[in-house]
Amino acid sequence: MAKQARKYVCQSCGSSGTQWTGRCDACGEWNTLQEEVGAGGGIGSAPRTTTKGGRAVELVDLQGEDVAPARIVSGVGEFDRVTGGGLVPGSVSIVGGDPGIGKSTLLLQLLAAIGGTGKKVVYLSGEEAVAQVRLRAQRLGLGDAKVTLGVETNLANILATLEKQTPPDVLVVDSMQTVWSPALESAPGTISQLRATAQALTGYAKNKATAVLLVGHVTKEGQLAGPKVIEHMVDTVLYFEGESGHQFRLLRSVKNRFGATDEIGVFEMSDGGLREVSNPSALFIGDRELASPGAAIFAGMEGTRPILVEIQALVAPSPLATPRRAVVGWDSNRLAMVLAVLEAHADLQFTGNDIYLNVAGGLKVREPAADLAVAAALVSSLTNMALPADSVFFGEVSLSGTLRPVGHAAARLKEAEKLGFKSAGVAHGTRKNADLRDGALEIAELPNVDRLYSWLRENGRPGSMTSVNRDSTDEFTTQ
Ligand code: TYD
Ligand code: MG
Repeated sequence: MAKQARKYVCQSCGSSGTQWTGRCDACGEWNTLQEEVGAGGGIGSAPRTTTKGGRAVELVDLQGEDVAPARIVSGVGEFDRVTGGGLVPGSVSIVGGDPGIGKSTLLLQLLAAIGGTGKKVVYLSGEEAVAQVRLRAQRLGLGDAKVTLGVETNLANILATLEKQTPPDVLVVDSMQTVWSPALESAPGTISQLRATAQALTGYAKNKATAVLLVGHVTKEGQLAGPKVIEHMVDTVLYFEGESGHQFRLLRSVKNRFGATDEIGVFEMSDGGLREVSNPSALFIGDRELASPGAAIFAGMEGTRPILVEIQALVAPSPLATPRRAVVGWDSNRLAMVLAVLEAHADLQFTGNDIYLNVAGGLKVREPAADLAVAAALVSSLTNMALPADSVFFGEVSLSGTLRPVGHAAARLKEAEKLGFKSAGVAHGTRKNADLRDGALEIAELPNVDRLYSWLRENGRPGSMTSVNRDSTDEFTTQ
């Protein structure tokens, strides 16, 4: 055996060096280097291999008679959608998310559902005791579910335990940060430990055709701890996300070897666990009777799925020398850009105002297609004119002030129509681009932000910040 070199591995990016430094040279993070012995080589330092003792494998053609893998369908529709039609036997997935977001709850409910179809499912917890998991199951109304439980953190014991039984169809390990291999000296949760865990369980999954789900907590920066070293080893990477103050939870696939990425599943956290939300738009747009200045409905896409969501802006005179800009659920740089474009090309003045922008429901919007809805919300709040309550918006704003069409126009409009909207403000050229036929929606094609402003003046309603339908809402003021 060669002498094991000491190395210092960055816990943030996974790069390694032979000397400790306060700051990682590769990613610039502070205090992330940890000494790891027997780490099995960092990036770029694989042990030398020879051909001695190697076995030649058979090479084959691309054409073959392989049948598509039979999927393990859970029946939890939102989960099956994100995985691309169910779990693939022998695949390994990571379910990442902030601590407390509901990963354990999701997976326990999922296992109970799969267990109910007659498949063998095993839940290994390294974070909670058996009694705790049982208590949670009871709370979820799953006290009688056919889920086999185990509590262990030692990788060797986990493998020995699995070896002793008929391989399960689905195995959950909650969480990978708690699992440690006795063969390594480094602490649980370090990159070398995560790598060893992922490697061992991937091996098990492939050998036994078990679908393995690994829970991974994300770090403060919103990345899976040891992201790059683990993500390439697994087949699917799912993120479970949401704002702590909101009940909505999104399951998002960012990597999927067996299906499309960018799919989302929408859940709602309730007293009785997670509930599927099959019509998320209805939740994210709130009560349209109460449309007030500053609110615009964005017809967005999440993967292949259209989702309508309310964008809220508040523009108010600031007492501060440097006015505040606060953004939740959108990119603050993008907000700065849209503001600059509105000032330069629509002759609107935002200077001296505090500006708050919020995406309703805790959703995070990443599409540039939201530019137009954001611009509409901002102009609406600044001018105190409410946008028509039955309008949706989508389109990209360019630096020159022109609006550019975006993809999936037909799907966005169809969703809006389904939810009872009557008109859409879109970028000029959208109709031609998407080859749209006349539908029930009235489409206003706007060439630039200046035209958006005049459209609002023609179609908007002066805002008094009070509800249109006061009588009927007074009785329901609990929200
Ligand atoms: P959990 O699944 O333990 O999160 P994670 O595994 O991602 O750390 O979820 C914990 C949170 O979910 C906790 O704050 C309480 C909440 N919760 C509910 O609101 N309803 C429920 O039925 C359950 C089981 C949890
Ligand atoms: Mg948990």
